[in-house]
Amino acid sequence: MRKLLIAGNWKMNAGPTEAKVLADEMAEMWKSKDFNNEALICPPYVSLPFVVKSFRDSFFKTGAQNVYTEDNGAFTGEISTSMLKELTCDYVIIGHSERREYFQESDEFIASKVVKSLNESIRPILCVGEKLEERKANDQKTVVGTQLKAVLSQVDEKHAEDFVVAYEPVWAIGTGETASPEQAQEMHAFIRSLIAENWSPDAADKVRILYGGSMKPANAEELLSQKDVDGGLIGGASLKAGSFSEIMAIAEQTTK
Ligand code: 13P
Repeated sequence: MRKLLIAGNWKMNAGPTEAKVLADEMAEMWKSKDFNNEALICPPYVSLPFVVKSFRDSFFKTGAQNVYTEDNGAFTGEISTSMLKELTCDYVIIGHSERREYFQESDEFIASKVVKSLNESIRPILCVGEKLEERKANDQKTVVGTQLKAVLSQVDEKHAEDFVVAYEPVWAIGTGETASPEQAQEMHAFIRSLIAENWSPDAADKVRILYGGSMKPANAEELLSQKDVDGGLIGGASLKAGSFSEIMAIAEQTTK
């Protein structure tokens, strides 16, 4: 059975001082408690070293929100996989809708970052999802299918266990509006079927598919209990230790 991944994306929030306080609080809440799933926090780059330090003696993992495809050199403003590895980052979020929208990241560029991360043993969390007008036009499967296939075609299925997809409908991000459990399950099953087609059913079974978009303690149980929902990518509710912890506790209940 796939372990659930409960991941917090802090986006451009929590600089070093705030991040340390928040990560310390989370580590303290779970001190001497077991967690049988996986918990991950992705702070801004500048806060990563502080969060890594706060989580040193805990099961919490850390990840970045982006990465570049080159190892080093004249690429002002970019960060490489080797730099993330030096900080002991386990995961990296790639192709978030905010990067696609505000920084014009293309499917090809996103695919090359996924390939680079997997080659360097950092697990990518590939974000896919449709906009409101695309959902209204019933185009969600075409949009998500195109985003996903651009990456699947470049990646070997031997990476299935390290490959994570996050379905994040853009209309549900930061809006308070959430996909219904049925809408989420339908898209997650579709994503898994595409992986089965492009890789193999065995590989598809290993890939974890997270839901993201206004996940919070009040809706986490119905979402996480869906067959093909293997965790959450949580924005707003991950910026409070209490609400993130509550979602983690719900994940534990759901998998018992
Ligand atoms: P919210 O949980 O704030 O809607 O953000 C979701 C998200 O974009 C996580 O990557």
